[in-house]
Amino acid sequence: MINELNIVQKIKELKEKKNAVILAHFYQVSEIQDIADFVGDSLGLAENAAKTNADIIVFAGVHFMAETAKILNPHKKVLLPDLAAGCSLADSCPASDFKLFKAKYPDHKVISYINCSAEVKALSDVICTSSNALKIVESFPENEKIIFAPDKNLGNYVNNLTGRNMILWNGSCHVHNQLSAEKVIELKLQNPDAKVIAHPECQSPILVLADYIGSTTGLIEFVKKDSASKYIVATETGVLHQMKKDCPDKEFLIVPADETCSCNDCPYMKMNTLDKLYRCLDTEKPEILLSDEIIEKAKFPIIKMLEISKQAKLI
Ligand code: 13P
Ligand code: SF4
Repeated sequence: MINELNIVQKIKELKEKKNAVILAHFYQVSEIQDIADFVGDSLGLAENAAKTNADIIVFAGVHFMAETAKILNPHKKVLLPDLAAGCSLADSCPASDFKLFKAKYPDHKVISYINCSAEVKALSDVICTSSNALKIVESFPENEKIIFAPDKNLGNYVNNLTGRNMILWNGSCHVHNQLSAEKVIELKLQNPDAKVIAHPECQSPILVLADYIGSTTGLIEFVKKDSASKYIVATETGVLHQMKKDCPDKEFLIVPADETCSCNDCPYMKMNTLDKLYRCLDTEKPEILLSDEIIEKAKFPIIKMLEISKQAKLI
């Protein structure tokens, strides 16, 4: 049995020896965030995956994220420490059902949130993440007919911001969707000096109460720059690790779900452990494998997103 210090050392040695890179999402457990070469939100991770020189990408995140890295790097080995690390939002949109849905709107463009399977990406015109959804939607003419999938909360949020009327797939993330607006109000009444910050995967009753809405990176950057000293945080608990590192003197109150569940941990994100990370680097398994056809079809909408995002950053 090797202890945590030993595992960290062994992971570092294997990484060096195999020219591997560890990309981790902010919802990963703290120990994994601390050992990763890059920690980011979905967009930052896709951007990093697109430009890495490593031979092996170990994706400390969930399945759709590792698939995105594989689509961008078909000739590299992409590993996911636990293949069962899925996503309730991606699961809410099976490709076969989505294909039938899409066929009902033949004159519509399809914008898919990155939290979907490679097969759904292959059926899309462009991908977006929570940090660039607005820019991606606005890259289409105002009168363009659009299907937005699979997150109805993010789609609804962008519809409200833009005045558009995108057709929404009825999917959601079970972690964000269960967060309670009543709890936000309760916390705000107890802490009137605290600002409310929320991820756009939350339902609109929470978003209307928010002082700031953004992706995980957006939320982390906001609290770094903002002058308040207390925040009511409506998202997954993983972000608190970086927030506390950046702002040790600030206070963060996580918004719980309803009375029956106080769990804000994404069970899929939290499937990855240091031990699984070590074993996956050592054995080079489990590996993400996709057909050439899916890679070919799914690559175009992802590249299109990365290009639009890059242009938006240059402006
Ligand atoms: P972002 O990484 O875009 O903030 O999305 C959060 C999320 O739920 C990832 O699964
Ligand atoms: Fe999916 Fe939600 Fe977990 Fe993100 S937090 S991976 S959207 S289930």
